Amino acid sequence: MAVTDTLREILAKAEAELTQLDSTAALETLRVQVLGKKGELTALLKSLGQLAPEERPIVGAQINDARAQLQTLMDAALLRVQAMERETALRSETIDVTEPRPLPGIGSAHPITLVMNDLIECFTGMGFEVLQGPEVELDHYNFELMNIPKNHPARDAQDTFYMDDNVVLRTHTSPMQARVMLSRKPPIRIVCPGRVYRADEVDATHSPVFHQMEGLVVDEHVTMSDLRGTLDAFAKHMYGPDISTRFRPSFFPFTEPSAEVDLTCSACHGKGCRICKDTGWIEVLGSGMVNPKVLEMCGIDSTRYSGFAFGIGLERLAMRRYGIHDMRLLYEGDARLLQQLR
Ligand code: PHE
Repeated sequence: MAVTDTLREILAKAEAELTQLDSTAALETLRVQVLGKKGELTALLKSLGQLAPEERPIVGAQINDARAQLQTLMDAALLRVQAMERETALRSETIDVTEPRPLPGIGSAHPITLVMNDLIECFTGMGFEVLQGPEVELDHYNFELMNIPKNHPARDAQDTFYMDDNVVLRTHTSPMQARVMLSRKPPIRIVCPGRVYRADEVDATHSPVFHQMEGLVVDEHVTMSDLRGTLDAFAKHMYGPDISTRFRPSFFPFTEPSAEVDLTCSACHGKGCRICKDTGWIEVLGSGMVNPKVLEMCGIDSTRYSGFAFGIGLERLAMRRYGIHDMRLLYEGDARLLQQLR
């Protein structure tokens, strides 16, 4: 009978092909070709109508048997080709772990961090302790206890961001002086590095967020020569033995007397150049003897104790040291800046 023959042929051909198969894609093609909606078995089913009515159920059953049989064979073939494919993939994807690869990009600590760490090393070496204080600060510590009352003109120079009338972003690290004096007894020897804020426009030398490191020493018999000696040691630690300090009279409400401190220009060693505007000196910090009024406000007996304080601007040190001419480069996060420091 023609249909039965065709059926046998289809079966034989499919079985032969199945043993040859080497990919899941080829198996799928074969499945569609034989069992699919337009496949060979389906076509055969459709041709049942041409048979004598009594033959139809018999041949129909044969076709269904063949379909089941093929399905089983294909399921088995699928497992086999999947295993083959996995094997090939594993073999082609082996990794030679000994092959040398280019190194990943290595960054560096940020210039501000580098300078800060160096300062910490310098001052801890002289017996200072490192403390950190809040960046969101009470007006009371930032201004009042620093002898800058409301409406004092010194507030103008340190205009800041007010959270409300009593809470500001600290304009300097000096409020830590008050926090420490109020919570400890002399002798006090501390440095406080950290972020500070002022309502300044961004330009090559200004940023509304920058960094300072406060220093405070309070003890019996502390004099201005202790301040000078300490800052001289700092200057030499940072820039080398031929660097000295120069004190210029200045004013800060919380120190009396006060001084701006310049260091020998490290670019020209004091001869005068473009960087120091031909003066031979670079201004790096504000300092002075702690105002007795501040000592008293913070509960320290100013007849027995005296102290000195200083505030170092870290941006300026970092820019000097690494030859960075625009402060904005420090905050833009361009990795090329760090790569140059490696
Ligand atoms: N707080 C001062 C400023 O930000 C610097 C300073 C600190 C001056 C300590 C004297 C003593 O300008």
